[in-house]
Amino acid sequence: MASVQNFALLVMLLALVTTAIDAISTEEDFVRCQNTVRKWAASSNDEVKEDKHTLQDLLFFLHVPRTGGRTYFHCFLRKLYASTHECPRSYDKLRFDPSKPDCRLMVTHDDYSMMSKLPKERTSVVTILRNPIDRVFSTYEFSVEVAARFLVHPNLTSATQLTGRIRPKNNGVSTLDIWPWKYLVPWMREDLFRRRDARNQRFYKDVKESYDSYNMEETVMPLHEFINNPVAHDIIHNGATFQVAGLTNNSCLSESHEVRHCVRKYPTLGTYVLDIAKKRLSDMLYVGLTEDHKESATMFANVVGTQILSQFEALNSNSGKTATSKTELSSSFPDSEHDTNHLQNSTDDQKESETSSSVDTANGTMTVGKLMDAYEVCISSLRKAQGRRRTASLKRISPANFSKDARHQVPDVIIQEIISLNRLDVELYKHAKEIFTQQRKHLAEKLVEPEEQKTILGSLYGTSTWRPFLLAIAVLLLLLLTFFIVKARKQTSKLKV
Ligand SMILES: *[C@@H]1O[C@H](CO)[C@@H](O)[C@H](O)[C@H]1NC(C)=O
Ligand SMILES: *[C@@H]1O[C@H](CO)[C@@H](O)[C@H](O)[C@H]1NC(C)=O
Ligand SMILES: *[C@@H]1O[C@H](CO)[C@@H](O)[C@H](O)[C@H]1NC(C)=O
Ligand SMILES: *[C@@H]1O[C@H](CO)[C@@H](O)[C@H](O)[C@H]1NC(C)=O
Ligand SMILES: *[C@@H]1O[C@H](CO)[C@@H](O)[C@H](O)[C@H]1NC(C)=O
Repeated sequence: MASVQNFALLVMLLALVTTAIDAISTEEDFVRCQNTVRKWAASSNDEVKEDKHTLQDLLFFLHVPRTGGRTYFHCFLRKLYASTHECPRSYDKLRFDPSKPDCRLMVTHDDYSMMSKLPKERTSVVTILRNPIDRVFSTYEFSVEVAARFLVHPNLTSATQLTGRIRPKNNGVSTLDIWPWKYLVPWMREDLFRRRDARNQRFYKDVKESYDSYNMEETVMPLHEFINNPVAHDIIHNGATFQVAGLTNNSCLSESHEVRHCVRKYPTLGTYVLDIAKKRLSDMLYVGLTEDHKESATMFANVVGTQILSQFEALNSNSGKTATSKTELSSSFPDSEHDTNHLQNSTDDQKESETSSSVDTANGTMTVGKLMDAYEVCISSLRKAQGRRRTASLKRISPANFSKDARHQVPDVIIQEIISLNRLDVELYKHAKEIFTQQRKHLAEKLVEPEEQKTILGSLYGTSTWRPFLLAIAVLLLLLLTFFIVKARKQTSKLKV
């Protein structure tokens, strides 16, 4: 009898203890995570850069996917740096070799953790940020676009086998080799083939006509499904913040992965990450905005471009001999043409490499004005080529077709969901906008300095596109003058009375 009572008591006690342990372990897990994140934050809080406005020996272009970094690379950086100055295999973490002696430019989708492999004091970082909603849309569309190119193949097996065999020519890097596309494209490709096979197997092929290209499940993974998939959680949402913090799923520091898991599990810990990302952004040499494209580009030319040019001037006068100005065909930048080459004849490749291959820096004939002119030409040709490729690719998933108008069809619920999934990026983007305003002020102050007035004004107003601004300033001055004259008259008339 006594033993039965004891047993019952024991069971009750045990139940109580396990519940308590559960609660304690959840609490413990949170505390453990909090400590992990705090420790990381403390170790990531670098000292304030003494002179962040001066370009150091190495330029690290932290390329957040789908922010337009590709145009900066092709239309600015490749005109300023000879390919001999590019750090080899920038986009290819495994083979990356920062030890190359005169490597001065690194452009990569790798995250900030790459800094651990670079000489920190001698490195300047630049980046471009984009409105998170547009970035998610663009990531979705580009994943579909690249994956849809494979639909020329009869089935998934033949599509994957062929890509496995063929490597890009000229030592180029395929989009499929680089993060995050190496995950996003195969995932989307598999999905596209599955949907096509399902369509073909159906007896009645009455495809439901939907007006919303972002929700055509017959043809392509709908946007709402895309943003809720674990893969999107792994690599897309808050992607800019994680990249600047060095915490992407591609990070080269082992502790990053635990920090990322903790932040995803306990969103409140995200503030630690956001603070580090904001601080790093503030310490960068330049931050551009995809939306303010034209102004961002001009600012890039004036803030970064001028310094690169004077760096090479100094280098050339010191060494006496000019660097090789010949651009090799091989580049570390992934060219989306490499992915199309084996699928269809691409007539765009030649043009694109022509427009991006002249490097005048070495013999000192490049100026910021010429750089902006060349940029205009380069970017319009690049955009045309990209547009053609996109149209050709999206034909394969017709009637789905992504456009600005189609985006307006997307229900507001989904937009709100994207915002809430990207809360950190929304905050970081706000911060980037503030930095951009400061940069604008800083540049305007530089404009006032008489020393530099000539060169910068020359570059700012050298191109005909700046004429409207000159006109606006003239009109403004005229208005001010009129205002003062009227005011002066009033005052004199008051004096008379
Ligand atoms: C895939 O397509 C190739 C080429 O047409 C064909 O040889 C192969 O049998 C197909 N595989 C399957 C699983 O249908
Ligand atoms: C990164 O994310 C992809 C896609 O979800 C996943 O397949 C991969 O295993 C992840 N890598 C790490 C290191 O977590
Ligand atoms: C690609 O070009 C080759 C030769 O120039 C031609 O034989 C072939 O039909 C073309 N393929 C396509 C898909 O246009
Ligand atoms: C500098 O190089 C460019 C193209 O590489 C060439 O057109 C130009 O004539 C060169 N200028 C001088 C002064 O050598
Ligand atoms: C998709 O829309 C673009 C313009 O937004 C148009 O040029 C293109 O032809 C369309 N493609 C299809 C397959 O309808």
